Amino acid sequence: MSTNQHSDTKEIILTGDRATGPLHLGHYVGSLKQRVALQDIHDQTILVADMQGLTDNAHNPSKVSSNILNVVADYLAVGIDPTKTTICLQSQLPALAELTMYYSNLVSISRLERNPTVKSEIQNKGFERSIPAGFLTYPISQAADITGFNASLIPVGDDQLPMLEQTNEIVRKINSLAGRAVLTECRPLLGNAPRLPSTDGKNKMSKTMGNAINLGASEKQISAAVKSMYTDPSHLKVEDPGKIEGNVVFTYLDAFHPDEEYVCQLKQHYQRGGLGDGTTKKILEECLQEMLRPIRERRTEFLNDKGQLIEILRQGSRTSRERTEKVLFDVKGVFGLNIL
Ligand code: TRP
Repeated sequence: MSTNQHSDTKEIILTGDRATGPLHLGHYVGSLKQRVALQDIHDQTILVADMQGLTDNAHNPSKVSSNILNVVADYLAVGIDPTKTTICLQSQLPALAELTMYYSNLVSISRLERNPTVKSEIQNKGFERSIPAGFLTYPISQAADITGFNASLIPVGDDQLPMLEQTNEIVRKINSLAGRAVLTECRPLLGNAPRLPSTDGKNKMSKTMGNAINLGASEKQISAAVKSMYTDPSHLKVEDPGKIEGNVVFTYLDAFHPDEEYVCQLKQHYQRGGLGDGTTKKILEECLQEMLRPIRERRTEFLNDKGQLIEILRQGSRTSRERTEKVLFDVKGVFGLNIL
């Protein structure tokens, strides 16, 4: 898949996060770092997906509402600059909900049921016996998000590829109905960092499973998380040779330690034997503490000024409302509905 970024061809980028919890180190290596770099090159919008967050949390809506500003503070704390990136709130953009309704007529239930990400989420959430309609159809709403901005480049993790595929299917259907290119097909921009495992090494890092290190984690929480990390269970004595594969401490050192050469030496030492888990964990902890301290401090400052966060969202949503309404007008036009 091509991921070329020429500064002379500005692309429209849209990314988003469900506002269901504070963001964590997995988001940082997976997409936030990339977004900070992309905002200097392209026309980037970040959508705080509160409506998508409700598709599986409508019974507990405060899980979404109480995290909206947390997520915005996370963005700003890692260096997303609202003068370069538009940050908007999905529920403030009614055109996206309307687009979802039109697109719903172009997608079959069986197509939605085949979406592998939705399929595994249904299992994980125990929705097998009763799936909320909004949940099954959120890929359509995500297609509305993406096409609503006419976005061509979507920086996401590989779990989101099925959503982009469904988006492009809808784009092709609309364009074929129109007999011309009304909407733009999108392509993913996959991060080059491998997916960060959870601290227990069993899963990917997840907002919902309590195995993540949040960007706002306190010193104590960081320390406890590193101490509990999964290493090599057969590395019992310091002298024993240890394994690197599956050793979460080394995966994190690879992802976050600035000195690759040093990490390489540590790995060799660990594999030879003579390097204890206590020492490798101490090195990782220092590195994470140093990296997260300024992020945590900025995050706290932003959260102490909620008025400013709300103003950023309000302005971003205002600009985005206009943009998405233009696309809605075009799509309604394809169905012949712009008669009044
Ligand atoms: N589905 C994405 C996630 O779970 C969030 C999202 C909503 C999104 N709308 C989007 C991502 C549009 C990219 C583009 O993280």
